[in-house]
Amino acid sequence: MSPTPVLRQLTDIDDLDRATALALLDRAQALREVAGGRAPALDTLAGRTVVNLFFENSTRTRVSFALAARRLGAEVVDFHAHTSSTAKGETLLDTWRTLHAMGTDAFVVRHADDDAVAALAAAIGPDVPLVNAGSGRRAHPTQALLDALTMRQCLGDWSGLTVTVVGDIRHSRVARSNLKLLRLLGVGALRVAAPAALHADDLDDPAVQRFEQLEPALAGADVVMALRVQHERMAQGGSPDPAAFHADWGLTTARLARAAPHAIVLHPGPINRGVEIASEVADGPRSMILAQVGNGVAVRMAVLEALLAPAPR
Ligand code: NCD
Repeated sequence: MSPTPVLRQLTDIDDLDRATALALLDRAQALREVAGGRAPALDTLAGRTVVNLFFENSTRTRVSFALAARRLGAEVVDFHAHTSSTAKGETLLDTWRTLHAMGTDAFVVRHADDDAVAALAAAIGPDVPLVNAGSGRRAHPTQALLDALTMRQCLGDWSGLTVTVVGDIRHSRVARSNLKLLRLLGVGALRVAAPAALHADDLDDPAVQRFEQLEPALAGADVVMALRVQHERMAQGGSPDPAAFHADWGLTTARLARAAPHAIVLHPGPINRGVEIASEVADGPRSMILAQVGNGVAVRMAVLEALLAPAPR
């Protein structure tokens, strides 16, 4: 089995160097049978408690962090912001202090604010195990890791790959973390494709080719990553019409024919069928969407292990 890398916090891809990112991916690959429930759970984190602190909705990320912790033998506490004292005005830091005082060991945090997880990390110091499970538009590092793992499983090393990210780039923490990680790993070529209003100025970079039309961005791509239109991050009235968006930007089988013959389709979920992706593509042979979900458990096991497995503190 590949060794467990050591890491105390993962707030953004910037916390990783290339060697650590590769070690996490190798470890996740080695953990796949346990992560998939096909091999017995481990006891590496027996006696440890992982707190899922989610202030935003989630299906995949929340459940996969919980399963990852349990399949390493840890206990899990699931905190629900809408039924907690957050609704009574308690701050994120006070909520963390309360849960930490109960003798918990690691915190998995999702928040709508771009800076919330980084601010919490700064307040609690570098020694408390903390993972960002999605902060506003800023970062979603474990999603980027599971995407990179899925690409490597399907297509091999990233160095020869052309990866096209399509859709609501502007509001996407998935796009931001993916672009950072794929550059760190040395991807062949990166493209982002969106209508002008959904491009992100902060992602302007000579290493990333920007397209305002879908078809040329798909030409020859090895990986096509579709993103949901994130209405919840847009001002009222600012959302594109779903049917119009699909007409110009929806990933259909006909459009996908421009990509490489072996191209794979990724999507972080939740998918909006008939908007950014047609059902025929989401359910089609190139779709790796459910493989991504499976890899999410393995990657989160590798990350929790890296945070907590070194000698008990
Ligand atoms: C994404 C997220 O929450 O950032 N989903 C996920 O974590 N798998 C993408 C989205 O919400 O569209």
